[in-house]
Amino acid sequence: MPVDLRDPVRLLLDTVLADARVHEEGAVADYIPELANADPDALGIALVSTRGVPHEAGDSGVEFTIQSVSKPFAYALALDLFGIDAVSEHVGLEPSGEPFNAISLDEASGRPMNPMINAGAIVTTSLLPGATADEKFAVVRTGLERFAGRELGVDEAVFASEAATGDRNRALAYLTRSAGTLGSTAEVATTAYFRQCSVLVTARDLAIMAATLATGGVNPVTGERVISEDAARWTMAVMTGCGMYDASGTWLVRVGLPAKSGVGGGIVAVQPGQFGIGTFSPRLDARGNSVRGVAMLEALSRDHGLHMLAHREEPLSPIGALSRSDDGMETVAALRGELRFAAAEEVLTRLAPLVRDDGTLVLDFSSVTSVGPAATRLFRALPGLLGPVEDRHIQVVLHDPEGVLDDD
Ligand code: DON
Repeated sequence: MPVDLRDPVRLLLDTVLADARVHEEGAVADYIPELANADPDALGIALVSTRGVPHEAGDSGVEFTIQSVSKPFAYALALDLFGIDAVSEHVGLEPSGEPFNAISLDEASGRPMNPMINAGAIVTTSLLPGATADEKFAVVRTGLERFAGRELGVDEAVFASEAATGDRNRALAYLTRSAGTLGSTAEVATTAYFRQCSVLVTARDLAIMAATLATGGVNPVTGERVISEDAARWTMAVMTGCGMYDASGTWLVRVGLPAKSGVGGGIVAVQPGQFGIGTFSPRLDARGNSVRGVAMLEALSRDHGLHMLAHREEPLSPIGALSRSDDGMETVAALRGELRFAAAEEVLTRLAPLVRDDGTLVLDFSSVTSVGPAATRLFRALPGLLGPVEDRHIQVVLHDPEGVLDDD
């Protein structure tokens, strides 16, 4: 029998892409005149696993401007540099349920509430290091390049076109400046932001960038740590609530992945711990989200159970094998796999009643691959828990040759 060596993930993406072509509705953005030149029929998708393996279909290598898809990544850079508390003093964490260009500012503080729409994104860029627009943009560009794992160009025509027509964004910058939340002058912030939106990427780049969030901040292709785990988690959390403008709630129910769209036609979506996806199709719906991109991600989520809150089957028991000595005094449990809070709770509640008073419980961690922080704490407290606390005397031996219980 000949072996079919075609990539099954690629075949899946081919099907998703072909199915999305039935959507003829939507139009390319034209509020930035230069964007009106985009090919409405361009269509691409790429998926990159957290092991750095890329799978692609259609126009996944065609460049387009990143636009608002840059927002979570610039935000991630700011979070990585300054932390969530300092950044939140300037821009909030709330889904505003408003269009991307809304004058969306907290009434009392004048602070933008949502970092994934323009007002919040302009403030975010203003916070990045550098005194001039060029210096701030250099920080953003280098950061985006580390997320993508390659050098990225700028579409100068789109930049010039947005700079020539971006008065609404300038107005947002001046409003936030007057409220004291902008980190630079309005001109510096908007010029850096317009250039940030004009960076050229492909769907493949977006998938690698999303996969870098999925790993907790390490680019899975280059192996470089781009941002901290905390910054990656905060960014994905904000994308979950705010990434699709005023369609964010519907998106969370129908697709259920942290995501961000842009008027250049790109969307990034992350399945934390598993993969990143980038899509490209410039036909936009009335909210500025790519019609075919949304259709592809909805289909993937619906047909392949990718919603991050989908019910998961009972995990494998953390107790791989259990034995007792003939006299019943020693119980040995061989634990296995990745132990998190629920697994530690299962080990403790199942084994404690089995061990005889004055007996010994040996927990063998030789086949355990990792132990989460909460589980580590529970296991470390175990001798105390089963001893005086319950007025029983059980000796607990933690056999941990690989040191999986060591705090890092
Ligand atoms: O601020 C703007 O108008 C654009 N450069 C970016 C906006 C954007 O991508 C909104 N997307 N749907």
